[in-house]
This record gives sequence, C-alpha cells and structure tokens, in this order.
Amino acid sequence: MKAVRIREFGGPEVLKIEDVPEPAIGPGDVLIQMEASGVNYADVMMRVGMYPINGLPITPGFEVAGRVVKVGDAVTEFKAADRVVAMMNAGGYAERAAAPAARVFSVPESLSAVQTAALPVNYLTALHMLREFGRLAPGESVLIHAAASGVGTAAIQLAKLFGARIFATASAEDKLALARELGAHETINYTTQDFAEIIKAGTGGRGADLILECVGGDVFDKSLHCLAPLGRLITYGVAGGVPGTVLTPLLLFNNLSVIGFHLGRYYQTRPNREPMHEILRLVAAGRIRPIISATFRLEEVARAHDYLSQRRTRGKVLLVP
Ligand SMILES: NC(=O)c1ccc[n+]([C@@H]2O[C@H](COP(=O)([O-])OP(=O)(O)OC[C@H]3O[C@@H](n4cnc5c(N)ncnc54)[C@H](OP(=O)(O)O)[C@@H]3O)[C@@H](O)[C@H]2O)c1
Repeated sequence: MKAVRIREFGGPEVLKIEDVPEPAIGPGDVLIQMEASGVNYADVMMRVGMYPINGLPITPGFEVAGRVVKVGDAVTEFKAADRVVAMMNAGGYAERAAAPAARVFSVPESLSAVQTAALPVNYLTALHMLREFGRLAPGESVLIHAAASGVGTAAIQLAKLFGARIFATASAEDKLALARELGAHETINYTTQDFAEIIKAGTGGRGADLILECVGGDVFDKSLHCLAPLGRLITYGVAGGVPGTVLTPLLLFNNLSVIGFHLGRYYQTRPNREPMHEILRLVAAGRIRPIISATFRLEEVARAHDYLSQRRTRGKVLLVP
C-alpha cells in the first residue's frame, strides 16, 4: 500500500510516498481503508522537527475516516465494511491505517468521510479546552486566536453553543468573515489592529474570561494582559515557533491561570469515548458542522503542507486516496 513517510526533518519535500506493508493489527485493533485523513498543523511542526515523536521514519496522521477492512480477534464492536472514524498516534497519511478499537467510532450515514475525518482532532481539542480545562460558563467572554484554523472554526461553534460572548482574531478579512458566520460576535485582524485594546474596550475594561492561544510569542504575551480577573488562558500550540513568557506576578495578583492542553497526552491519561460520541451527535443534529477548507490527494501531501504553512486554511485540510 502507499503511505507518506518522513525520513528526515525539513520542508514539504521530505514527505515521500512509499510502498510499505499494510500495518499489522493486534487483537484489539481495527484496520481501516482510508477515505479521508485529517492534516493538522502539528503535522507541519512534526515535519520540521518541532513536535515530540519517538523517532524517524514516521507516517504522520492523527485521524482517518473510511471503512473497516478487518478487526483483531478481541474486537466485537466493529466488522468489515463498517463506516468509521478513528484517532491514532501516527499513520493516518496512508491508504490503510490501524487504530485501537477504543479510538474507533461508528459514523452516521449522513456524513461523508471527508466531513467525519475533519472532526476528531479539531472538535475534541476545542471541546475539552472550552469545557473541562477552560470552565467556560454561559455569558462569559472567550477570545479565540487563529479563528479560521481547524481548531478555531470548531471552537467558535462550540463556544456559541455554550452561550459565550466570542471575540475572534485572524490575519485576513475573509477569515474574520468566516468567524462571524460561525458565531463570533466581534472579530479582530491581529496583524493590523491591537487585539488587547479591542478586548478591553469590548468587555468594559475587564478583559476576556477565557483565551484559547495557539500562536505563542507576542500573541501569548499580549493575551496574558487582556485576561479578566480569575481569567484562564489555555496554551495549546506554538504556530509561530516562538514560545510565550509567563509572568508569575501578573498571574498571582489577578488570580489568573495559564493552562496547557494537549489532546493526545490528555487521552493517554484520561481515555474517554463519550466526548467523540457527543461531537458526532451534535454534527448529526446539525448543531455544529465541519468546515472544509481543502482536500488534496495523498500524492499531493506536500501541497497540503504548503497550504497550511502559508496560513491559507479556512477550516480543515484533508487528504483523500
Ligand atoms: N494541543 C493540542 O492538542 C492541539 C490540537 C490541535 C491543534 N493544536 C494547535 O492548534 C493550532 C491550530 O491548529 P490547526 O491544525 O487547526 O491549524 P491550521 O488550520 O493550519 O491553522 C493554523 C493557523 O495558525 C495561525 N498562525 C499564526 N502564526 C502562524 C505562523 N507563524 N505560521 C502558520 N500559521 C500561523 C494562522 O492563522 P492566522 O493567519 O489567522 O494567524 C494559521 O492559519 C496549531 O498551533 C496547532 O499546533 C493543538
């Protein structure tokens, strides 16, 4: 079967298509014929060597949707030909991918493979950050950076469902228009406007109750200064490549929290199937929807990575066979 392999860190050219054996499955695993595979910014960070992995070579890819090819002896919930979506630690950029049955979910007939593969990473990340980690309450304000990203588009829709007042930043006007269409109340172009001033003005000087921060550097530093008393900032990415700086006096004198979130590590410590079922139910009921930015063929994986690196995403980017 064909799979994308990274054998050395570098630009998109290090993403090579290779003929490899299909993944072996253990008793608790499911083998899936990939119909769509999510591309995440973390894959770009992985490719350039800025994401923790166990070593090279690696086939990236944290999520696939498709049909079950076969299951391990201990798997009773799934059978060949079932339509599923799955999360995995790696291996999604391939014609076939294996995942533990505990991370495989049946999908409603009404959703395409592209739509379902767009859900796990982005919507679970957004859900856990807003609810468990961010403790967002109805009527609170939330600032969502990189609002047109895969995670950003998910977070806006979920924050709207949770009854929050939503501020959203992005680097282009059409990204801000998408954020408004999804439910953002106030949008800010952080390349031309001072988001801290706008947040302060828009919250009567208090600041935001919750901030979802994935850029790092100046964006992180400035965000800390626009938290309301008792505010929470969740750091969940460093898209700009430069980490932020935590000012402990600012935290202690304002009762602020800076919280890290990493979906993969969270599920290693707290495995739970219900949140993904909840997302699938919300999508099936039309209360949230996957936002698809672009699809690329597996062979066009380098173009897909270029697309993300050039900040062109407006929603989710996916690979198809
Ligand atoms: N911790 C976790 O579990 C977890 C899970 C999923 C994603 N993430 C993180 O969440 C962020 C969004 O991920 P995604 O897959 O949804 O990303 P995406 O759709 O590719 O969007 C990334 C966005 O980040 C913004 N950005 C800011 N500085 C950038 C830079 N120097 N280079 C490229 N983009 C930059 C851009 O939006 P603007 O042009 O509007 O600035 C860009 O469109 C990433 O930082 C990712 O690592 C973390």
